[in-house]
Amino acid sequence: MTDKVLGIIGHPVSHSLSPAMHNHAARILGLGYSYVAFDVGPGSPKPALDAMRALGIVGVNVTVPHKEAAARLVDKLEGDAARVGAVNTITNVNGALVGSNTDGIGFVRALKREKIDPAGKKTVVVGAGGSSRSICLALLREGAFLTIVNRTPEAGRNLARILSPFGKASFSPSSSRQAAEAAAGADIIVQTTPLGMRKSDPLPLADPRFHKGQVVYDIIYSPERTKLLKLADKHGARTINGLSMLVFQGSESFKIWTGRRFPEEKALSFLKRKLKGG
Ligand code: ATR
Repeated sequence: MTDKVLGIIGHPVSHSLSPAMHNHAARILGLGYSYVAFDVGPGSPKPALDAMRALGIVGVNVTVPHKEAAARLVDKLEGDAARVGAVNTITNVNGALVGSNTDGIGFVRALKREKIDPAGKKTVVVGAGGSSRSICLALLREGAFLTIVNRTPEAGRNLARILSPFGKASFSPSSSRQAAEAAAGADIIVQTTPLGMRKSDPLPLADPRFHKGQVVYDIIYSPERTKLLKLADKHGARTINGLSMLVFQGSESFKIWTGRRFPEEKALSFLKRKLKGG
């Protein structure tokens, strides 16, 4: 059987568990797909998108730093990708590249799996990049009260503006007193920046005052516990890493590409075993 190719484009991608997860799922379902990590460094991802067409690659996930650039380069945007201008899933439909975004739904499904309902909850989202965009949109849609915290005020305000047709989001710069207060008073804190992937990274929130009753979700899953999650743990907050979001956003992408239901719980246990070195 000829393998149909799926993949992920981004940088860095060597740590990504998406190839292992999707290949595992394809094997379980007996589908002839191979999922490959393509390291596409900073600069335009256009050559990678052209290669998708030239090589007949069926679909790719898009990760840091290309989610917003990809939204400008695809032939068509649909759903949340069109609403927020960020793409995490590209599908090659007879040579036309269609951009979608499954991060938001993947994130909300990850919360709900933990029996956490964001409706009416004070929620702080740290970061205003490609991942943050669709997570924020999904949170507004679920009825959360949203504060965006970001290092660069312009990017944070711009995101609040993009989201304004869907609900109200306030913005505070990362280093401000307002950001620290919003985080201290939040029911849910979502960390969407790459800070925490490297040991030497500073905390993405200045002066965090975590406490019992809070949920802290870090979309990073490698390392399993970032500095931020360890600190939140220590102060009694409930902490969750990005593994469940990885599975649910991947599940939604897989359904778009293959039309098949993704074996979610099996994928989650597989990844947990893998992270434990099993
Ligand atoms: P993704 O597509 O995964 O969201 P991204 O689009 O590169 O990645 O977004 C990165 C986010 O992390 C942004 O909010 C960025 O903040 P800025 O708008 O200030 O650039 C944030 N980020 C990245 N590196 C950071 C750092 N060293 N300190 C603080 N924030 C950082």
